Amino acid sequence: MALKKVDTAVFISGNGTNLKNLIRFSLSKKSPIKIKFVVSNNKNAKGLRYPKKFNINFKVYSFINESKSENRILKDLKNKKIKLICLAGFMKVLSKSFIKKFGYKILNIHPSLLPKYKGLNTHKRVIENKEKFSGCTVHYVNSKLDSGKIILQKKVKIRKKENYKVLERKIQKQEHILYPKAIMKVFSP
Ligand code: GAR
Repeated sequence: MALKKVDTAVFISGNGTNLKNLIRFSLSKKSPIKIKFVVSNNKNAKGLRYPKKFNINFKVYSFINESKSENRILKDLKNKKIKLICLAGFMKVLSKSFIKKFGYKILNIHPSLLPKYKGLNTHKRVIENKEKFSGCTVHYVNSKLDSGKIILQKKVKIRKKENYKVLERKIQKQEHILYPKAIMKVFSP
């Protein structure tokens, strides 16, 4: 008998390439998750085209008042019986209280070899520092920025004279492989 998939919400702020990839993955038989809800803090996020395309419920929260928005999200997650959150380019730090009240796993993907290069403009800083390697990390979320326990990491070699845009594309390709792999790892029996 097929196992019940975990009802999942994906949070985005921008392009949504990871969201698109996670939707595709979630539709595969082997996926332990089902994406039921998409949350955005940005009504102009390009990635909102994907819940529309795949007929998935979505909602935009303004975050003008962060704690009000968080409480509204929590209420909606509860109504929809969401048991996992995947952050995918969500550019807000969730509060300690949100994480505690949600009570289930929250995962995030970050485009660096954490704990190095937390925060924004990762690829630019990596190139400026003349690093030889970078990569991406899937980790559990806690209330500190890009800091929870690491689930999986993928290392990528940086070529001489590579610019940060090229590096960004190269790492994003790896993100699209790593995130489903990390989800499989989290839910493997
Ligand atoms: C991804 O590269 C993700 O790793 C990064 O934002 C991008 C979103 O792209 N996340 C962070 O920097 C989180 N601190 P996408 O919207 O196309 O998935």
